[in-house]
Parts: sequence; C-alpha cells; structure tokens
Amino acid sequence: MLIRDADERDAEACAEIYAPYVRDTTITFETEPPTSAEMAERIRRAAKTHAWLVLEIEGRVAGYAYGGPFKERAAYRWSCEVSVYLELGRRRTGGGRALYEALFTRLAERGFQTAVAGMTLPNEPSERLHRALGFEPVGTYRRIGWKHGAWRDVAWAQRSLAPDSAESPEEPR
Ligand SMILES: CC(C)(COP(=O)(O)OP(=O)(O)OC[C@H]1O[C@@H](n2cnc3c(N)ncnc32)[C@H](O)[C@@H]1OP(=O)(O)O)[C@@H](O)C(=O)NCCC(=O)NCCS
Repeated sequence: MLIRDADERDAEACAEIYAPYVRDTTITFETEPPTSAEMAERIRRAAKTHAWLVLEIEGRVAGYAYGGPFKERAAYRWSCEVSVYLELGRRRTGGGRALYEALFTRLAERGFQTAVAGMTLPNEPSERLHRALGFEPVGTYRRIGWKHGAWRDVAWAQRSLAPDSAESPEEPR
C-alpha cells in the first residue's frame, strides 16, 4: 500500500472509483458522475488549498481521500470537510484508515484544526471508520436530501487535527 499526493493523471482512476457511488448509492448526494476533466479540476483545487491523496496498490489507484473548505466565511477557515472513497469491493483492508491518517497529518501540517465529515444514513462502514478515527457525532440533519426516491438523513461528525489551544492560530498555508 502506497499513499501519495494525487495529480491530474489520477483523475480518471478517481472518477471511475467514484462513479458507482454516485449512480447506485446515496452515499454521495451528487447524481451525475463527474467527468475525468471535472475530477482533475477538483484534484487541482483540493491540492492547492488542502490535500488530495490516493491509495495505490500494486501500481493501481484503489482509493482516495481529500479535504476541502467546510464553509466559505472567514472564521471557518481552519476547519475542513473530508471524504474518502475506496474502489467497490475493497473493504476492511486498512485502506480507509491509512488514507485518512495520512490526510489528517497533511491537513494538520497545513494548519487546519478541525475535520468535519457528513455521512448519509445508513452507512455503517463509514460511521465505524469515522468513530475509529476519533470523530465525535455532531448531529443529524433529517430529510436533508432527496435521492433514489426517498428523503435521506445525513449525520455529521468532527475531530480535532491539532492540540486544543486558546492561542490565536496560524493561518492555514
Ligand atoms: C468507508 C470506507 C472508506 C472504509 O474503508 P476501509 O478500508 O474498508 O476501512 P478500514 O479497513 O481502514 O477500517 C478502519 C476501521 O473502520 C471501521 N470499519 C470500516 N469498515 C467497517 C465495516 N464494514 N464494519 C465495521 N467497522 C468498519 C473499523 O473500526 C476498522 O478498523 P478494524 O478493521 O481494525 O476494526 C469504505 O468502506 C468505502 O470506501 N465505502 C464507500 C464510500 C464511503 O462510504 N465513503 C465515506 C463517505 S462519508
């Protein structure tokens, strides 16, 4: 297992991993799979301000994780939203944990203080992964999205990326 920064050449693999979750599940609220070009743009954007990492297994991209802004308003700028996707069928082999741990290290190095994640319910693997990595529940938005013919609830969770401090934080870089 190798974890490394993504670049635009990983866009096609990431788009392929993501597409079935868009088409066939409610895990994401997107409804049209993004093209490789759109994925390349997302990778570029995330790498510039936060991070986008891929998991390589035997030279092939098998998963990815990334961070992005939580909310645009200025005082939120130390908080970020994170997400992780593995190729279908690759489950419980440590990939999700490895990606997230590397991502959190990277985000902490850039000065981010809090990671936030949203999970459409039910999603036991995701709920368990987040709990295993120290996320605490924030609350659940009820009937917050409509996909595949039903209203969906989204549970949010957060974890700290930096030691608790009342000092004025350095700007993320
Ligand atoms: C969620 C996801 C990334 C987890 O990745 P993974 O590689 O299977 O998880 P790991 O093997 O690293 O597991 C780490 C820990 O998470 C928990 N966990 C993960 N999957 C679990 C499952 N199916 N059941 C119970 N616990 C699970 C366990 O605590 C596990 O530690 P352990 O195996 O030592 O007990 C993966 O299932 C996935 O890609 N799902 C589809 C996309 C998705 O839901 N992404 C999250 C969007 S919010």
